[in-house]
Amino acid sequence: MKTLRTVSEARHDLQAFRRGRIGLVPTMGALHAGHEALIAAARAECDTVVVSIFVNAAQFDDAADLAAYPRAAEADLEVAAAAGADVVFAPAATEMYPPGFQTWVEVEELSRVLEGEHRPGHFRAVATVCLKLFNIVRPQFAYFGQKDAQQLAVVKRMVSDLDLDLTVRPIATVRDQDGLALSSRNARLSVEERALALALPRALATRDADAARALLAELDVDYVEVADFDPPVLAAAVRVGSTRLIDNVVLTEEEQ
Ligand code: PAJ
Repeated sequence: MKTLRTVSEARHDLQAFRRGRIGLVPTMGALHAGHEALIAAARAECDTVVVSIFVNAAQFDDAADLAAYPRAAEADLEVAAAAGADVVFAPAATEMYPPGFQTWVEVEELSRVLEGEHRPGHFRAVATVCLKLFNIVRPQFAYFGQKDAQQLAVVKRMVSDLDLDLTVRPIATVRDQDGLALSSRNARLSVEERALALALPRALATRDADAARALLAELDVDYVEVADFDPPVLAAAVRVGSTRLIDNVVLTEEEQ
């Protein structure tokens, strides 16, 4: 597996793979089985699998959240290779946002609700970094987790609105045995907090916003709402201690 650090290196080295299908899995590292499922899906249908690892500071509205975000550079390379990556693109912040950077992509309506309401500027930074990654890697397929349903909707909208020549593949949420959706932020939960956090998947499993709200009454809830994405989801965000967790369930039968 190759590790590429600069945009020009990526452009140059990926030339050799352009005859076949290139699949991109954008990540912020601290790779877990959720990321591995995306990499495996890419491996199954692409000739070359590129995993990007870039902690996109611009999409963090909370400096403490950014500072606490787990970073596991060495371990990530091993996980990516074992899961089937051919190339890891892991640029430095100045490579993606050099001095003078000032161009941003705004997916307007979709970015304002739910997560967007609680994290202003978040989706603008997600859309922008994803567009940059798509332009650098030029994949035929890009893999995104259903875990971040609104992010998936925003990226799909951008790909459609800007006529990007790639297909977005949604991948079902991977959960731990206790039902908690895997997330890099789960590592921050204490044993007690994790027990409290389990109310989130249990509440969403009711597939009913009112029932879910009642089950989450003990927690600090940002929102519990049905979102009219494609497919529609019941989505929620809660705070457990200093950790903010999001999760959702797809509301159409065939997607379960
Ligand atoms: P990150 O949180 O690292 O997630 C990378 C990808 O893994 C996203 O598409 C996310 O939805 C998916 N993912 C995370 N947990 C998952 C789980 N339990 N099951 C299935 N998929 C899961 O999302 C981002 O990074 C960033 O916003 C990014 C798209 C890389 C842009 O910076």
